[in-house]
Amino acid sequence: MLVFAVETSCDETSICIMDDNKNIYSHIVFSQEIHKKHGGVVPELASRAHLEIIQEITNKALFKSNKKLSDIDVFAATCGPGLIGPLLIGSNFAKGLAIGLNKPFVPINHIEGHVLSPTYNNEMSFPHICLVLTGGHTQIYLVESNNEIKLLGETIDDAVGETFDKVGKLLGLSYPGGPLIEKKAIEGNENVYDLPTPLLKENNLNFSFSGLKTAINLIVKKNEINEVFVRDICASFQLCISKILIDKINKTLINLENNYKKINSLSVVGGVSNNLYIRTKIIKFLETKNIFTFFPKKEMMSDNAAMIAWSCLNKNIKNHSNISFNADPRLSI
Ligand code: KG4
Ligand code: ZN
Repeated sequence: MLVFAVETSCDETSICIMDDNKNIYSHIVFSQEIHKKHGGVVPELASRAHLEIIQEITNKALFKSNKKLSDIDVFAATCGPGLIGPLLIGSNFAKGLAIGLNKPFVPINHIEGHVLSPTYNNEMSFPHICLVLTGGHTQIYLVESNNEIKLLGETIDDAVGETFDKVGKLLGLSYPGGPLIEKKAIEGNENVYDLPTPLLKENNLNFSFSGLKTAINLIVKKNEINEVFVRDICASFQLCISKILIDKINKTLINLENNYKKINSLSVVGGVSNNLYIRTKIIKFLETKNIFTFFPKKEMMSDNAAMIAWSCLNKNIKNHSNISFNADPRLSI
């Protein structure tokens, strides 16, 4: 079974050719640079950039894999959640190939792709917890099996990645702010700024990050933005984010224990899972609870088509083939 998968939910155009033995024949991720000068993703520009490059990437992916389009058994594409223009481009492109070659088309949920991504490179038992930390989502799921994924809590305003990007912008860093904040924080003092940790006193599993961004905005206005300031505020910000994440992970564990659910592993997925500081904090905390922490392999952390191919291969293709499935910017699991 050879799958050709397309990911275009935001600002990465990606194609992966993978088989049901986990062999990746080619995996190309093209990150659009055009958004850098705007300090964030401009949907219309993203759509155009996907359209301009998707055919070229397809040819490259086929060439690299040494496969022909006629070798492909199933076509899959992200159909949501995400930006509607980019979703329409990727999904209709894959649908067109499927129709032309008379092969099935399987629509894939982008968040499900992230949630299942660590099961590609790790032996994860069920049930486990998955913490989704992307530019658009901050969610905690209980993963009972590959197709029983239950939402336990989520952000009521900004996502973690979005907060990294907005704070980066306030500090004059380029887009996306996440990786740059991580770099600056390495040499900063994390105890200089005492930042707010919203919803920590509440006994639910939801997150809120917009107050944190506002607090940093006020601090930025009162200070001169120099290198020392940027390093210290980045370090304090990362400490604050990890405190919030760990508190909610802890509440999730208590909650599940009270409901007699035994968990021995947790995965952290999405672009923010690249952050070594946050990874280490979570791993160390979970070690005290005898819980293993898992991550996707590097190329499956940020947006990518390999996780879409993997998600497709975890499904019964006959039951999930649906050429008339419409892209939906708010698609939920
Ligand atoms: O999963 P992803 O690639 O795309 C979405 O589905 O949104 O996540 C992108 C987000 C961006 O907000 C980016 O700033 C953040 O992941 N990110 C990071 C790091 N690398 C990427 N945030 C913190 N530290 C990083 N090293
Ligand atoms: Zn994503």
